[in-house]
Amino acid sequence: MANQIIKIGVMTSGGDSPGMNAAIRSVVRTCAFHKIECVGIYRGYEGMIEGDFKLLDARSVNNIINKGGTILKSARSTEFRTKEGRKKAYDQLQKEGIHALVLIGGDGTFTGGMIFNEEYDFPVIGIPGTIDNDIVGTNFTLGFDTALNTAVDAIDKIRDTASSHKRLFFVEVMGRDVGHIALNAGVGSGAEEILVPEEDLGLDRLLESLEKSRHTGKSSSIVVVAEGDKTGKNVFELRDYVEDNLEGYDVRVSVLGHMQRGGAPSCFDRVLASRMGVKAVESLLEGKKNYMVGIINNKIELYPIDKAVKGDSTIDAELLRVSDIMST
Ligand code: F6P
Repeated sequence: MANQIIKIGVMTSGGDSPGMNAAIRSVVRTCAFHKIECVGIYRGYEGMIEGDFKLLDARSVNNIINKGGTILKSARSTEFRTKEGRKKAYDQLQKEGIHALVLIGGDGTFTGGMIFNEEYDFPVIGIPGTIDNDIVGTNFTLGFDTALNTAVDAIDKIRDTASSHKRLFFVEVMGRDVGHIALNAGVGSGAEEILVPEEDLGLDRLLESLEKSRHTGKSSSIVVVAEGDKTGKNVFELRDYVEDNLEGYDVRVSVLGHMQRGGAPSCFDRVLASRMGVKAVESLLEGKKNYMVGIINNKIELYPIDKAVKGDSTIDAELLRVSDIMST
């Protein structure tokens, strides 16, 4: 099969993340380097079903390495979850003469690719693109580093006003149901407390910690809260709870939201994307399929896509301890 691949499709799917364009650029340029054609598939599986394709050459991806978002757009497709929908997609790929796919996205994207491969023995290679960093088989997903820098920059700004008004701020960050953004951005921004789903500290522990901070002379505090946190209260309810239970606290809330998904990708994400794109295309040309490209200890590796699909990943216990010590 390896020497029959002369046209590769590339698409982005699921929540976009900074670095996706750099990955698209790398896939297209690697195809051009190996003198094979590359077809951009717009809007993920939805566009695949509709045959929303465009031939891309090395010049098509000029000046996108530094752009957030994805030039191929992204969409979540319910139709692709049906056999009929996947058949339509397969027929479109056949009509276009596409022999293999590079899928840039999260575990939902990989699930679709895996089922598609099972039904049609169609070669797929995944590139992990999500700010959540929640995919097993890679130390980093594309966009995580950029999202951390965006969150830290925002929290630094919040700290300026918090310290000017002796206020406590609850800052909610993304991450779906894992706490990697919260933990790393919390440590990086010097947060007094970090609430992550992986470790439910409990509300009493939070109050004690805030009281201790105040007694040691901290007149303002930042508490970073993962959106998937399991205290059972959202950040607005946490604000009310602290105001009701701690004297003299002036509390505000800031939800960072989708700004964490945008922005120019960091150098780390651009380099990671470039390395992953080369690996994905060259693996397909070597006849490999049903893998995700990952980075483990700074080595670009292949990881079985069915295991990456079940991605959750444990929180870094050592970093959690560091965050506890830093809030002394
Ligand atoms: O998976 C990336 C992510 O940004 C999560 O961190 C967040 O919970 C979710 O997507 C938001 O999804 P949507 O963009 O559909 O609102």
